Amino acid sequence: MALLETRRLSKSFGGLRAIHDLDIDVEAGTIHGLIGPNGSGKSTFFNLVSGVYPPDPGSSITFAGTDVTKSPPHAIAKLGMARTFQLLRLFSEMTVLQNVMVGYHTHVPYSLLGTLVNSPRTRRIDARITEEMSELLEIIGLAEYADMPAAELSGGQRRLLALGRAMATRPKLLMLDEPAAGLSPVNVDNLLSIVMALKDRYGLTLLIVEHILKVVMDTCDRVTVLDHGEKIGEGSPTEVKDDPAVVEAYLGQEMDDEEVRQAMQA
Ligand SMILES: Nc1ncnc2c1ncn2[C@@H]1O[C@H](COP(=O)(O)OP(=O)(O)O)[C@@H](O)[C@H]1O
Ligand SMILES: [Mg+2]
Repeated sequence: MALLETRRLSKSFGGLRAIHDLDIDVEAGTIHGLIGPNGSGKSTFFNLVSGVYPPDPGSSITFAGTDVTKSPPHAIAKLGMARTFQLLRLFSEMTVLQNVMVGYHTHVPYSLLGTLVNSPRTRRIDARITEEMSELLEIIGLAEYADMPAAELSGGQRRLLALGRAMATRPKLLMLDEPAAGLSPVNVDNLLSIVMALKDRYGLTLLIVEHILKVVMDTCDRVTVLDHGEKIGEGSPTEVKDDPAVVEAYLGQEMDDEEVRQAMQA
């Protein structure tokens, strides 16, 4: 069984079918790409499987062997699903380390730590958390900025911090919504190599939503292509890239030549 399975997943906003009858399997240990033109339903898919929006009746979502079709976000997070958002959400005044810790504490029963303050057990757990968080900061390349306020990081570094915070919960599945948007090519490459390092280190499964085809070509094992909320293609990155329906969907949208070239470039 796949780590994440949707069957007949649908979501309408008023008369608009944002997602329609979508069957997707994200296999454990893989990097799965979800691509498609603007407005094709990629972010909505994330919001559905993470429990932010209730899906339409008849839909089914299974995560880590559990039916989560009607589960709230915190219950799904607890099963091991984490995500980043298209818009950055960080605590600017808090340090880099504290931002990552926030991610951790949404996962660990810190109330337990609170009642055991200064007991040997708490100190052991604290030492372990600090060690784990340091390793994480090391992998995302922010170790030297641990005590710096998040506000002082560059745009590229803030993106990495958001990634670190999502990773702090030790998820089974990490979902990234347009992680490369607005980054310079150098920062995109850096981000992708960090994503690969996290996958190797933590045995992570990833679902990456991207508008830019090149990003998924370089990283994904399998790609699903959405257009107007429906699956119009699926396969290896190469299969998908050569699929006429996919090319058509990308060319059909209102982009100038340069944008089409960038989106298709692999
Ligand atoms: N909360 C919402 N209310 C109404 N319409 C929405 C909402 N979220 C998304 N949509 C609509 O659903 C469609 C898919 O949007 P979205 O999932 O954000 O696309 P993508 O992430 O692929 O660009 C769009 O037409 C969008 O306007
Ligand atoms: Mg989106």
